[in-house]
This record gives sequence, structure tokens and C-alpha cells, in this order.
Amino acid sequence: MFARSLNKIFNQKPQKLTVCQLGNPVLREIAEPIADVRDRDIQQLIDQMLIALKENKGVGLAAPQIGRSLQLVIIASHANERYPHAPQMEPTAMINPKLISHSVETEKGWEGCLSVPMIRGLVPRYCEIEVAYTDRLGDRQQIKLTDFVARIFQHEYDHLEGKVFLDRVETNLDLVSELEYQNILQTADQKAVLL
Ligand code: NI
Repeated sequence: MFARSLNKIFNQKPQKLTVCQLGNPVLREIAEPIADVRDRDIQQLIDQMLIALKENKGVGLAAPQIGRSLQLVIIASHANERYPHAPQMEPTAMINPKLISHSVETEKGWEGCLSVPMIRGLVPRYCEIEVAYTDRLGDRQQIKLTDFVARIFQHEYDHLEGKVFLDRVETNLDLVSELEYQNILQTADQKAVLL
């Protein structure tokens, strides 16, 4: 909030960010916890990540992806051409998130990653999870997440532990190119229409 008002006063636009790609060592580091959410630098980082997500049409982003090895993720599920069936939610910054509990049940679903361009994979994830995190105002929150939003959280949480979705696929046969993924999506839609 403080950083936001400062930006207003000086009429500064947050700097544009580039997303680190697979092979960049920062993606394999264990992210550090954030000591003070209200820190100006952290608030600015959250603003920058929100912009980067929008520009890249992502549904989630973790701080290590933009070169900052800190425990901060943004979950921002919304339908777009990259994820046409995603549910709508307000973009939520989660600081020092923890996975508290999860369902026994898992489900395989398609994932992509701004740090792994042009590749999609079928990744098994828990269907229901309970998570705790500090919000950008500094309050600790605890919520339940299901299905696609639970999937986004698990994907972003992995980034804080130096993992990417490629590490989670059961077999390399579950990896496809973006082009083939678009073909698969279209075929799936046609099936749905026929049924
Ligand atoms: Ni990712």
C-alpha cells in the first residue's frame, strides 16, 4: 500500500519484468521466506508481478520466475486463450504460503509455465488442498482450494521449492508441444459438443 501511494506521488510505473526460463539457476533454488510484507520493495514486487501476469496471460506466477528467490506467489485464475476453461477469481498475492493438508485423490490435468515456453504437460495434482499464507496487507489467511485453482497453487508452490511441472509428469509421453496442445483442446471441445 505504502509503495503504491509512493508510486502515485512520483507517478512512476513499475519496471517491466522478464520471466526467467528453464535453465536459469534461480528456478532451481529454494526460495527464502519474506520477513516483512509491508516492505516497500516487496509491495512493488507484487505490483510488478501482477502486471507481468496480465501481460503474459498467465494464471499464476512465482517470484523466482522473475529472478527473485522469495516465497511469494500470485494466483490469478481467469479464462483466456492459454486456459479457456479457467474459473474467474481476483488475483491473490500469497506470501510465505504453506500447504497444510490435501485430499488423497489426485487428478491429471494440462499445465504450462511461462518459464517453460511452448511445452504442455499432463500433471497429477491433489484435487483439494488447504493452504495458509500471509496476504499483502500482512494478515495470515487460511483457505481451501479445489480443482484448477488448487492446481495453480501446487504449480506455483513447486516454484518456491525449485521444481517445475516437468519434474511432476509421470512419463515423458505426457509432454506435448503448444501447437499439439491446441489441437488436443479443439478435439476435446468437439467431443464435448457431440456428447
Ligand atoms: Ni510455472
